[in-house]
Formats: sequence, C-alpha cells, structure tokens
Amino acid sequence: MSTTLVSSERAGRDRLLGRAQEIGQAEMAKLLARTGQSAQLFQRARRILPYGVASSFQKMQPYPIYVTRGKGSRIWDQDGTEYLDFHGGFGAMVVGHAHPRVVEAIQQAASRGTHFAVTTEAAVAFGEEICRRFHLEMLRFANSGTEATMDAIRVARAATGRDVVCKIEGSYHGHHDSVMFSVIPNADTMGGRERPASAPVSKGMVKDASKYIEVVPFNDADHLERVFAEKGGEIACLIMEPAMMNLGIVVPQPGYLERVRELCTRYGVVFIFDEIKTGFTIAPGGATERFGVQPDLICLAKAIAGGLPAAAFGGREDLMRLIEQGVSQQGTYNGNPLVAQVGLVVLTEVLTADAYRHFARLGTRLAQGCQAAIDRYHIPAHTVDLGAKGCVSYRATPMTNYRDFLETTPELFAASYPWLLNRGIFMTPGDEEQWTLSVQHTDADVDRYVAVFTEFCGALAG
Ligand SMILES: Cc1ncc(COP(=O)(O)O)c(C=O)c1O
Repeated sequence: MSTTLVSSERAGRDRLLGRAQEIGQAEMAKLLARTGQSAQLFQRARRILPYGVASSFQKMQPYPIYVTRGKGSRIWDQDGTEYLDFHGGFGAMVVGHAHPRVVEAIQQAASRGTHFAVTTEAAVAFGEEICRRFHLEMLRFANSGTEATMDAIRVARAATGRDVVCKIEGSYHGHHDSVMFSVIPNADTMGGRERPASAPVSKGMVKDASKYIEVVPFNDADHLERVFAEKGGEIACLIMEPAMMNLGIVVPQPGYLERVRELCTRYGVVFIFDEIKTGFTIAPGGATERFGVQPDLICLAKAIAGGLPAAAFGGREDLMRLIEQGVSQQGTYNGNPLVAQVGLVVLTEVLTADAYRHFARLGTRLAQGCQAAIDRYHIPAHTVDLGAKGCVSYRATPMTNYRDFLETTPELFAASYPWLLNRGIFMTPGDEEQWTLSVQHTDADVDRYVAVFTEFCGALAG
C-alpha cells in the first residue's frame, strides 16, 4: 500500500473520529438538558443504591435514564419522554410491554396465590414445553441466568469428577465466581492469542479461582482440540454461547459447533450451551434449533417468561438425575407459580411460530435498512441479523471472536447512543449489546430506527 494511501486513510479516520466526538458531545448536552427528572432521581437513588441503580449493568455516565412505564413497543422515561424500545430489557422483552395476554395471565395467576414453594401443575407444564422446544430430557428451574449456569456447571463437575471450566474469551455467563473471567478483558490482561489468560472480572473473587478456568477463543476448534488434548482430563465442561451476544453478535462459523460437539464427546467434557440470550429469541428452540447442534446441557433465562424473573437449565437425563444423587440444586422461588403460569402462556400463546416469522421479517428489515445507510455513507460498521436479535457493530467486517471486538470503534457507538436516544430510540447503553425486537414492534417502528440511524450516518460522514 502506498504511503499516500495510508496517510489519506488515516486522515479519513481522524476526520470520522473528530465528527463522532463533536456529535457525541452535542447530543449528550441535549440529553442532559432534557432529562432533569432522571438526574433528580439519580441524586436520590445513589444514596442507597451503588451507582444509583439496581444492577451495575444499568449504570450510565453521568446518570441513567430512569423509566416509568412501557406499553407495546414503547417506554416512557422519568421526564415523560416517549421512546421506541429496542433495548428490550437486555433481551427479555420479546413479548413487548404490557402485552394484553401476559397482563391477563399475571392477573389470573396472582389471584390464585403468588408463591407456595411447592411445585404446581403449571410448573410441570411450563417445563414440558421448554423440554419440547430444546430437546431436553429433564430440567430444573432457577431465577436468573447466573443461577442456571452456576447449577449446570455444578452438575458437570459432579458428572466428570473434574474441576476446570472451559469458557470462551469475551463471553459473559453471569456473575458467579466460576465464570467471571475474561468477559471483556483489556489488552493488558488478556494474554496472547495462542494462550488467552484467565482474567478475573471482579474484586472479591476467590484468589485462586483462576486455577479452575481455561479460556479459549470462539470459532477456533483447532485451538480447543489442543487444549483438550493437553488438559482434557481436568476439564469438567465447556460453556459457550452458541452465538456470542455480549460483543454485539458473533455467529458461529459453519462446522464450528459440530466440531466442538464432537471434541466434547471425545474428551468426556460436558458441553453446555448458554442460551440465556439466544434461547426463545433466534428460533422457538433457540440456537440449538437454529444451528442444529445438541449440547449436553442448556441454560435458559431472560425471554423465557415475558419479563418475569425465571430461568431453567436441563438436558441429558443421566446428568440431571445427579440431582437425585447428591448434587444440590434448590431455591425458594424456583418454579414459582406466578412465573410458571405466565411463562407457560408466553411460550404457548405469544411466542408462537408466527411470532418467530414476525421477528425474522422485521429483523431483516431493520438490519438491511441500517446496512444500506452504512454502505451509503461508508461507515466502518456492519450489521448482524438473527431473529429478534441484531446489531450494528462499528467494525467494517463481521467478527469471528473477541479479539475482533477490540478492533471496533467505540467512539462511533458513543456518538450514536445519545443521537438515537434524543430521537426517540431507546437502545442498550453499551456497544457489547444488541437490539431486541418484540411481537409488538411494527414495520413503522423499525423504519423509524432506520431513518434515525441513516441521519446519524449522514452526520458522521459530514
Ligand atoms: C449469555 C448470558 N449468560 C448469562 C447471563 C446472566 O443472566 P442474569 O443476568 O439473569 O443472571 C447473561 C446476562 O446478561 C447473559 O447475557
């Protein structure tokens, strides 16, 4: 490449970053000027809640936008501003807000009692429907994705008598110590490509917990085979998101999941899909159905019960029966009757085959619309389209693993975020997330997103 070309590319990039910074600052100033009520609530909330929020994933600089209510595809913030919601409660709200059938199911279930800590027929029926969709032989309920992955890993350790958990670099599986490694490791802590380090995410974790974790790159079955050949006898399980959804979206390359399946079988490693984001969003039977590879255990949460706190994990009967032979799996609210009844209605009456056709059509309309804007204005970005989930990632070409995510341009996301918010599009606050569509989103909602995003690309291009 000639020096002139390199320097003109650099100048183009500098111009783009300069524009992004200007847009980001101007839009953030507008955002702060019109969200005074959120600012006030933040002052109150921060006295009792660290960062002023209920979960650290909700924090935002300088303060979060607090929400008062939602209906259909829309939500309203503390200042009364209406937004189209593409955040979708971090992927839980594929039913949309206050869906009439969900509201009715909640009212009916609540009127019969909200909690017994005794299993109900609804819990059994809800479980049967999940087993049917994901080809699980047995399952157990939990209350969050974190609990589901924690319990699945315990079952895997008991089954194999091994301690080490193998996980993918750049994946998040909840906030328990076994998996809080190398979620978004920075360049200083992530180690080399050949041997990614196990970088702890949080203070307060057991000091030598990293002894029990092995981090591998996504979409690299050769690497996994080397690790299994070297350490397979110590590895209890491999836990992975079949499509990574905490870096934008990274899809599995053809043949990758099949080879991983085969390697896990060969080395006696329990293969766990974390379908907490993909399950119920990218196909009725999640990634397991969409990519046609059956793991040994599957973890589910988020979209499972219309926005109520539910989770489950399950799979092979021989593994799940270990719960009858000394593996502890419990929880006061597991299979809670309100959650189970609503979850059953959601899965059987709302998230029907038609719902998935709707997601596919709308998702493609949104992704194609955004991609057209990216192409028209030559923005270094790409879109991913996967059912109810999809994203714009600020890297010119699709990603194959975590290291590619480090080549995205966070400055462009930082400018896009307040731009979208100020024009009525509510999105997740970080570039590692993606949009979530609901059964209540319409063509017009998606077209509005595309129009606002197209204006943004035009502004960036100057
Ligand atoms: C892939 C994945 N696994 C597990 C979790 C943890 O789920 P929860 O927040 O319900 O504990 C998340 C949460 O975002 C997730 O994205």
